[in-house]
Amino acid sequence: MSAFPATIFLQSESFIYVLYIAAFTLMVLGLRGLAGPKSAVRGNRLAGVGMAIAVIATLLSPHEGRWGLIALGVVIGTAVGIPAARRVKMTAMPQMVALFNGVGGGAVAIISWVEFRHYGSTYGSHIATAAAGEGFATYTTPAVPTYVAIFSVAAAIVGSVSFWGSNIAFAKLQEILPGRPITLGSGQQALNGLLALLALAAGVALVAGVHSELLFIGMLLAAALLGNAVVLPIGGADMPVVISLLNAFTGISAAATGVALNNPALIVFGMMVGASGSILTKLMADAMNRSIPAIVAGGFGGGGAVEGAEGAGEHAGTVHSIGAADAAIQLAYASHVVVVPGYGMAVAQAQHAVRELAKELEKRGIEVSYAIHPVAGRMPGHMNVLLAEADVPYDQLKEMDDINPEFQRTDVSLVIGANDVTNPAAKNTPSSPIYGMPILEVADSKSVIVIKRSMNPGFAGIENELYYDPKTAMLFGDAKSAVADIVSELGSI
Ligand code: TAP
Repeated sequence: MSAFPATIFLQSESFIYVLYIAAFTLMVLGLRGLAGPKSAVRGNRLAGVGMAIAVIATLLSPHEGRWGLIALGVVIGTAVGIPAARRVKMTAMPQMVALFNGVGGGAVAIISWVEFRHYGSTYGSHIATAAAGEGFATYTTPAVPTYVAIFSVAAAIVGSVSFWGSNIAFAKLQEILPGRPITLGSGQQALNGLLALLALAAGVALVAGVHSELLFIGMLLAAALLGNAVVLPIGGADMPVVISLLNAFTGISAAATGVALNNPALIVFGMMVGASGSILTKLMADAMNRSIPAIVAGGFGGGGAVEGAEGAGEHAGTVHSIGAADAAIQLAYASHVVVVPGYGMAVAQAQHAVRELAKELEKRGIEVSYAIHPVAGRMPGHMNVLLAEADVPYDQLKEMDDINPEFQRTDVSLVIGANDVTNPAAKNTPSSPIYGMPILEVADSKSVIVIKRSMNPGFAGIENELYYDPKTAMLFGDAKSAVADIVSELGSI
């Protein structure tokens, strides 16, 4: 029976490639859109449509056949994914990304395993038996091309590391596991090295043609333990950087699977995820003035001790504390106010109160802008997302490099729950753990009001010299209620 011509057209290689090209184009446009807050939502939708087209193109391929299983997978994925993505709170976004990213790595590892079984549990040539006519025939299957074997094994190792590492990242951020670094002390690096060596040795043996599914499972297991062992010693607050790194790993492992399976969508999308994840990791590490190996080595933040860190209260100097009424007066007589938000604003969910305050000031003709440090908060774009949620106009959000020269003409810098990103020690104290980290130079402004609950340090665990500056006034309290108090005091001025 001859196939219906439309089916032949839809399943033709050329048509499938046209769909792939359309999908790649949408993905690139989508990624471009993610570069700015105004275009981000549209970018996300474009990338989503691109991904859907790539899935359809792959399903159109004549080699696909297990429709029941595929439909089941799509139904389960949709039933879990959509409600989870709709319900997730903004503050829980990093662990959600960790989980979704980990699933990608796990899928890659399983695909590599399935492919290995498909080859007859060896990449080398071997005698196979198959039904032929009335009986069985034996024949020699050719060896799998070496590059396919290498890419499959690499995908399995990296995918497994990414899956099991991401699970630990998720558990730490979700507080299922303690956020503090969990280390084996001096034996940690040796253990990591041993696990990496075991996984690599198994991989090399498999590529060389060893016929053993058990060895493949052992390789996956060593990589799984390596994923756990690498992420456990990292402090909870460093997790966003680690998640971004694992995200890059998943992308690279997906691309490697794409080479092994000869699937262009996996190669292109995998490389895009790998490249963008690597760039984001580097940008975050640079903005914290930390090296990626230092972050992966662990022991910083999340309750871990920081070498060279000073405890709160060791600084010789006095702190000037004010109430909401004084803060309101200072703000009411300013002509240019810069709001400097940080992690504390996110914890207190003070963004709506902050927006109210800004509206009150603007009604009085005061110019208000927001200084955004690239690593303020605990995830990339944390402050942008919160302020966008409170309808702060995008053009009032100023990147660090744009706002720093502005501080000299700023009457009041209102620091709300930000600490490390304003600490002058990053410029002035070579022994400080954050020395070299670019900061928001609020100390240049004519006066500074800092809202926080106590003199406790921030993420880096160090004291902030800014609080002892004679032009700084501390307004102690929860960010949300302190800002609301200022707004109500402004009403009576
Ligand atoms: P931090 O330096 O962590 O300081 C936050 C401050 O908020 C704390 O000092 C805390 O002081 C205050 N706070 C907490 N809850 C509060 C509340 N309810 N009301 C008022 N204040 C509250 O924050 P930052 O300046 O945003 O700097 C971010 C830090 O995280 C940097 O060191 C950065 O390297 C690190 N980091 C960032 C990222 C990304 S991607 N953003 C990823 C990993 C690590 P009190 O306890 O006294 O209130």
